[in-house]
Amino acid sequence: MREADPPGNLRPDRRMGPSAKSETNGTASSNRNPPAANGGDAQPPLATNQAITESADPSKKRKMGMLPLEVGTRVLCRWRDGKLHPVKVIERRRIHNGGPNDYEYYVHYTEFNRRLDEWTHLDQLDLDSVECAVDEKVEDKVTSLKMTRHQKRKIDETHVEGHEELDAASLREHEEFTKVKNIATIELGKYEIETWYFSPFPPEYNDCVKLFFCEFCLNFMKRKEQLQRHMRKCDLKHPPGDEIYRSGTLSMFEVDGKKNKVYAQNLCYLAKLFLDHKTLYYDVDLFLFYVLCECDDRGCHMVGYFSKEKHSEEAYNLACILTLPPYQRKGYGKFLIAFSYELSKKEGKVGTPERPLSDLGLLSYRGYWTRVLLDILKKHKGNISIKELSDMTAIKAEDILSTLQSLELIQYRKGQHVICADPKVLDRHLKAAGRGGLDVDVSKLIWTPYKDQS
Ligand code: ACO
Ligand code: ZN
Repeated sequence: MREADPPGNLRPDRRMGPSAKSETNGTASSNRNPPAANGGDAQPPLATNQAITESADPSKKRKMGMLPLEVGTRVLCRWRDGKLHPVKVIERRRIHNGGPNDYEYYVHYTEFNRRLDEWTHLDQLDLDSVECAVDEKVEDKVTSLKMTRHQKRKIDETHVEGHEELDAASLREHEEFTKVKNIATIELGKYEIETWYFSPFPPEYNDCVKLFFCEFCLNFMKRKEQLQRHMRKCDLKHPPGDEIYRSGTLSMFEVDGKKNKVYAQNLCYLAKLFLDHKTLYYDVDLFLFYVLCECDDRGCHMVGYFSKEKHSEEAYNLACILTLPPYQRKGYGKFLIAFSYELSKKEGKVGTPERPLSDLGLLSYRGYWTRVLLDILKKHKGNISIKELSDMTAIKAEDILSTLQSLELIQYRKGQHVICADPKVLDRHLKAAGRGGLDVDVSKLIWTPYKDQS
């Protein structure tokens, strides 16, 4: 599946992006000197010809001298929007049966989220724009020496996007280990889905670029025929565990990671393909998994899920949340978030999602919190405190405060936070908060909080 609206377009900082100037440069240079498409035009019929071309075109000679590009090189790269964007080379690999300089390059678009990292061919890269070809190990030092403070801050900002709360050392370790997407696509039910991030599948899957998942038990296989054989004997038609919610064609299943270990591990492998910053290894025993399905006469098809610790000391009511890409932006994410708060209400606790939140996670939560809180403020007559809002919604007080602060609805008067809710301002914010998502019908939720039976 191709993303029609790539989430990397969320808010790419165009100021840092290629200026009109560099784009013109790129185009002009590629017209003047057609890029060596994996050595395609680098195979002159005669050696003498090559000598003439090289001496006549010193820029080409200079460019050939750069090849293969070093890991760490910063250069402009033509993206799927047809425009040049700054990238950093993360990894490179020789092209099978290619010449000595025929490499593919795995690049990170510094303006975009890591999910858009990809393998590119040399003809996508504008060699005129190569900033530096540096050794990865000394790169940080060189960068900090060469960059102005402003440039450095911009790069740091993009670098840590989605990782706000990881310290520098764990961030580096995480990025080193997960730098290249291993599985490029998966087949799941009727969908073929492009993946976003690395996932730590067992080593025997190292050579696979595509995996085939059974959509019901989530076992994964290397070949389509294996999946077809599996489907003939797999007797699951829905996630294992208890169906705790059914409304229309939507069902939610609660899966205990301890009782259904293999399913839970498979789910984590699958989910990691779309989650960047979460811990790679789970002790699934400690978690419950809430799997949302759309059901029809063929079975219950997974749409998304969230996981929840059985016991959380930090009052987390959700660890990881995912809507599978084919189902995204249809309101399921906000449904899952709402569901997690309904469970918290039944437990009589307030809850908060585990940090760090991804860019899309933060957008979804902010949208949810804004809508829930403003709906109450609109209807409520008289004063209301953050504590009261928290009791009504199971949203942790800090999240309420930060949401209302970001909407500029809080003032600090006489040592107290006061909510200032002008109805017109509320309406404006509500409009901006996007759609409400699918509703959870609490009367259809049949659930008791987890009790340790051991
Ligand atoms: N571009 C811009 N905004 C987006 C996009 C996008 N591609 N996707 C979602 N949003 C924003 C929008 O504001 C949207 O509301 P709107 O459609 O009313 O404008 C809001 O997010 C939520 O939309 P939903 O349809 O309710 O959510 P969705 O089903 O798309 O799921 C989710 C959101 C779960 C975050 C999904 O994007 C996802 O699975 N992402 C990958 C995994 C991830 O990042 N999970 C969160 C990690 S943090 C954690 O686990 C605690
Ligand atoms: Zn199966």
